Amino acid sequence: MIQIAVLGYGTVGSGVVEVIETNKADINKKAGEDLAVKYILDLREFPGDPYEKKVVHDFDVILKDDEVKVICETMGGTTYAYDYTKKALLAGKSVCTSNKELVAAHGPELLRLARENHCNYLFEASVGGGIPIIRPLNYSLTAEHIDGITGILNGTTNYILTKMDKEGADFEDVLKEAQDKGYAERNPEADVEGYDACRKIAILSSLMTGKSVHYEDIYTEGITKITAADFKYAKQMNKSVKLLAFSQDTEDGFFAMVAPFMISREHPLYSVNDVFNAVYVHGNMLGDSMYYGRGAGKLPTASAVVSDVVDCARHQGKTIMCFWDEEKVKVADVGGAKRKFFVRVSADKREAAMAAFGALAEINVGIAEEFAFMTQTMSEKDFDEKVEKLGGCLNRIRIMA
Ligand code: HSE
Repeated sequence: MIQIAVLGYGTVGSGVVEVIETNKADINKKAGEDLAVKYILDLREFPGDPYEKKVVHDFDVILKDDEVKVICETMGGTTYAYDYTKKALLAGKSVCTSNKELVAAHGPELLRLARENHCNYLFEASVGGGIPIIRPLNYSLTAEHIDGITGILNGTTNYILTKMDKEGADFEDVLKEAQDKGYAERNPEADVEGYDACRKIAILSSLMTGKSVHYEDIYTEGITKITAADFKYAKQMNKSVKLLAFSQDTEDGFFAMVAPFMISREHPLYSVNDVFNAVYVHGNMLGDSMYYGRGAGKLPTASAVVSDVVDCARHQGKTIMCFWDEEKVKVADVGGAKRKFFVRVSADKREAAMAAFGALAEINVGIAEEFAFMTQTMSEKDFDEKVEKLGGCLNRIRIMA
């Protein structure tokens, strides 16, 4: 019998208990031993809940119980979660987490502690919710040199952008509707400003390189400036706008970024809509592969946490290899990245824009007050300088090649 403790009885934590209960027979068979939830740590009481007697308020109860072998950290944050995770690993208890903030901030240190104490720190649920992506990177693609990962890694923003695309609505209206329906948080900053996607691409980039890609080094832009007019132009160009998180290992350096991009219908990520996530991985032998599914939500995310618990049960006393060293990856300055840009300026800047950008492709959707165009391929730095000389623009969106 493997005794488990769940830290945090919120959406994902209660999902973990539900997944273990619902799929008990299958999970126990696959784990090779029965799994049982012994404790649930939460500040609150849960009167009437079938698991109410398992609720404890003191982490030390869990830490001191030698029967507890695996801890599911579904509380989030980087303060208590960090402290409890370290103590658990030092005590030789494996930790399975959905907490991308903690993994992105302290992943290599926690992995080292797990190695030193012959247990595991597993985090399949931290990126892409229920989509298997950490395991493919760690196991299935070990024969590859992975040189590019591009993901739609945030369900909230993908839902908002999909609605804006399909309904021609503005950002603020769709965000409000998403909040009313409970799809978006009351404080949506981490999602709409791209911070959540930034943590997730930092984790994937670290696994891609085997070193540490610090999330603070990743240029991050959210979707708050995208308007209904931008989507009109995108449609005219047979494109849509998606919040992409990507990293690329190139001859010019290692680039990583989170920003809204225009992508064309032919791109596999174009059809990833609503709350779905997808991760598009390029390896030098395999070529392209894509991993798609529900990137958030109670049961999909909990399912990934429980898959890690099963892995812990199968590897008791052994640490599953994970290449993520503390050595820092130098992320190249975004100014050197080259791409095309979609730009909108006021109509009176038409001549100046044509003079500054040279050959450009005009895009006309009948908005008389504006001049919109697509540039040639140029560096971000070069682009910014030209826009500054023009005295700014109404908006600009990068174009994914
Ligand atoms: N807020 C996240 C999202 C939840 O919208 O994708 C999953 O990390």
